[in-house]
Amino acid sequence: MKEPKSLATPASKAPIPLLPRIASGDLRRDEDMTAQEVRQLLQLAHDVKEHPERYRLALAGQSLALLFEKPSLRTRLTFELAIQQLGGGAISTNGSIGEREPVKDVARNLERWTGAIVARTFLQATVDELAEWSSKPVINALTDLYHPCQALADVLTLQEHFGSLNGLKLAFVGDGNNVAHSLMLQSARLGMNFALATPPGYEAKPEILAEAEELAQQQGVVIETTHDPAEAVAKADAVYTDVWASMGHEHEAFQRNLDFESYRVDEALMGKAGSKAVFMHCLPAKRGLETTDGVMESPRSIVFDQAENRLHAQKALLLMLLGLR
Ligand code: CP
Ligand code: NVA
Repeated sequence: MKEPKSLATPASKAPIPLLPRIASGDLRRDEDMTAQEVRQLLQLAHDVKEHPERYRLALAGQSLALLFEKPSLRTRLTFELAIQQLGGGAISTNGSIGEREPVKDVARNLERWTGAIVARTFLQATVDELAEWSSKPVINALTDLYHPCQALADVLTLQEHFGSLNGLKLAFVGDGNNVAHSLMLQSARLGMNFALATPPGYEAKPEILAEAEELAQQQGVVIETTHDPAEAVAKADAVYTDVWASMGHEHEAFQRNLDFESYRVDEALMGKAGSKAVFMHCLPAKRGLETTDGVMESPRSIVFDQAENRLHAQKALLLMLLGLR
């Protein structure tokens, strides 16, 4: 376990509530947080959202490094804003990590200058290596395997919308990708049922699915996998989709558009979900492919609530990794 990273005492006497901690010291993948820590994060995120002024000096004197190998709108800007609104500063780079110098050297440079590293990478191994070599917290801002920050904002959004997560059913239709992996892990640990409908050949990684199934069993909920979108969305409280070709897979788009044609979340598929089901998407969305403009713009769509909650959930995450006790 990494040493808790405490910060300089804020200049103001404004009371900052006692903050829970993330024992692992990093968020490399969803499993780095216990269910209890996720629940604490959700509670803290609600407070941060209601009372942002309480936390405005929590990261005073801290600078964080943001490393992006892939494009980003939401993740990059919400981390920058979160850090700024908590009184800290952000520095950032684009481009491949580990090409000009080894990842372990990058980590040991950054730990000397900054309080934490937020990294969006192709390989999960890059985030893992940064965390292994940095004494400061490392946060996964999306890899090919996971998108834990997205899943935290999504469960916050679902909790706000439904009041409680317990026993909800979240259906994911599309690619068994990074977002699907993180959502299945978070759903299972928080007592939500999860259904995944993918075309054959695009299933979730078996080892991540097995882990989610074990968590689900412990919580008395189920993870369902199918190739039939209608089966997945039946009785669902939320229907989620994501792009068919994730970053790094754009060259497969032509074939994927053919393979995923019957997996579009359109008005007809939403009609087969629970009568009060919401529509979710991590964004960016490709209207006309994985979903339609009509679904995106419908009253059922909570996609911009999800986007807003990236900011609040990540503030809570930073507070739990870096804030004063
Ligand atoms: N949802 C999400 O992570 O968006 P960006 O790729 O724009 O960061
Ligand atoms: N699965 C998508 C998510 C983008 C936020 C990707 O990796 O490109």
